[in-house]
Amino acid sequence: MNRKYTIPYEELGAEKLAELLRAFYKRVAKHPKLRPIFPEDLTETLRKQIQFQTQFLGGPNLYTEEHGHPMMRARHMPFKITPERAQAWLECMSEAMDEVELDGKFREIYYQRLVMTAQHMINSPDEDEEGFE
Ligand code: HEM
Repeated sequence: MNRKYTIPYEELGAEKLAELLRAFYKRVAKHPKLRPIFPEDLTETLRKQIQFQTQFLGGPNLYTEEHGHPMMRARHMPFKITPERAQAWLECMSEAMDEVELDGKFREIYYQRLVMTAQHMINSPDEDEEGFE
């Protein structure tokens, strides 16, 4: 067997991850469905997301070291995460992946994991569904 196991974080690299997430938040900042729930200054959000994605991809536990257990669903509870917003988040990510030219099997697997995590984060119905419950 000469097949080598590679950690996704090492395959991607710290610089490329930062590039991807900068491209992502550039889109979040302009997205009409996302803009209203994010802070005006996304510097700190970007910094935390780099830390989180580093460990999400199997790299060092930078997020946990500074902020404790991720508990991502709980940390998103103060925000209305609707199916529409989850879709918008994923669209921004997909476009960011295009911008930094992430492709192939790596992109496919990474993106699918984000789809699952984004779905798990949904905590409210779409705005126009309210009142029908
Ligand atoms: C489903 C759509 C999502 C929406 C609308 C959303 C929205 C938000 C918002 C509004 C914040 C707060 C930003 C701030 O105060 O700085 C946040 C923080 C964060 N989100 Fe999301 N998010 C989504 C999905 C995800 C996913 C899929 C992940 C991880 C794979 C993620 C990881 C994070 C992290 C690491 C933070 C920083 C938490 C902290 O303050 O320590 N989010 N998100």
